[in-house]
Amino acid sequence: MNYNKKTVRDIDVKGKKVLLRCDFNVPQDKATGAITDDKRIRAALPTIQYLLDQGAAVIACSHLGKPKNGPEAAFSLAPVAKRLGELLGRDVVMAADVVGEDARSKAAALQPGQILLLENTRFEKGETKNDPELAKAMAGLAEVYVSDAFGAVHRAHASTAGVAAYLPAVSGFLIQKELEIMGGALANPKRPLVAILGGSKVSSKIGVINHLLDIADTIIIGGGMAYTFAKAQGGSVGTSLLESDWLDYCNDMIAKAKEKGVKLLLPEDTQCAKEFSADAEPVLHGSMSIPDDMMGMDIGPKTIAAYTAAVQDAGTVIWNGPMGVFEFPNFAEGTRAIAKALAATDAITIIGGGDSAAAVAQMGFADKMTHISTGGGASLEFLEGKELPGVACLLDQ
Ligand code: 3PG
Repeated sequence: MNYNKKTVRDIDVKGKKVLLRCDFNVPQDKATGAITDDKRIRAALPTIQYLLDQGAAVIACSHLGKPKNGPEAAFSLAPVAKRLGELLGRDVVMAADVVGEDARSKAAALQPGQILLLENTRFEKGETKNDPELAKAMAGLAEVYVSDAFGAVHRAHASTAGVAAYLPAVSGFLIQKELEIMGGALANPKRPLVAILGGSKVSSKIGVINHLLDIADTIIIGGGMAYTFAKAQGGSVGTSLLESDWLDYCNDMIAKAKEKGVKLLLPEDTQCAKEFSADAEPVLHGSMSIPDDMMGMDIGPKTIAAYTAAVQDAGTVIWNGPMGVFEFPNFAEGTRAIAKALAATDAITIIGGGDSAAAVAQMGFADKMTHISTGGGASLEFLEGKELPGVACLLDQ
């Protein structure tokens, strides 16, 4: 896939109406609706500011959550408009719809240097179906399309991909940065390249493991998926998370890693618990001999020592997925130790979004990383080497 795409710097936006797709899918407090992490809004600011400074009229849009049946107050982008206005220090006009009368008249009246935010694109049923009529209607609001929604580039939706068929389409600075840093780490990494993969399911990381086996020097496995590897190797994993359908796959991966000369590191010891609870007492066991009535919850100290040593020698580290149940303080040590090791190394450190990004932020190491991706699913699909529709649709350099 070609990641060398035109950016906002390659086109003239002065006096033009620009439809800007952002990923404003931010976490919110369930009870109050307050935005609990505005990282994705902040990440869009350089492109928005650039466009406004260039004299463009910016028509921003995004999805938020997964509304199923049209407009729903709980999924309104109004809180985002408010926060965006605070961060930009200027008024953000909010439209009551996406391509309805309100959006059309506000877009038509928008002046250079002003910003309008459309309502949640998923209020339109055609959005997730990549309906060409919706894409055409969105394109009709503007003269140029800029995508900066890295977190949504794996979605072939009307606002992330379809609209590019009707307007000159380029990337913003966030997509450019994500592609440059992650693309560079995969295409021409400073070696050794160490990939740390965690999270609960092997099945969700198959594509990534397959792809990285061709690129990485070392692959480190932690989190819930390690128990399926242990079981596949003949270990006992008690009541740990287990995906029995993937045992053969795990053995294949172990064999492939040997064949390709990739070091595949699996946990030696595991912090276990009798039940999945924040109050459970951690009990240390060998990773291949977890008692029948216990479940693995985190990597143990020997594993931490081996994994952090691999990180210390790395030229590049890519991390996607926590090492244990880091939401429970008793089982956060493995994830914390990896985050700390990444913070201390001189290697290029890249955190795939989602849980690992949340863990790094929660543990106070965010500013020590080279790059924390704003994409969860998107960065995972990027690491799988898949074509990303929201990038493929943009003009090549
Ligand atoms: C994300 O949060 O990963 C992106 O905003 C994509 O959201 P989605 O999974 O609802 O498409």
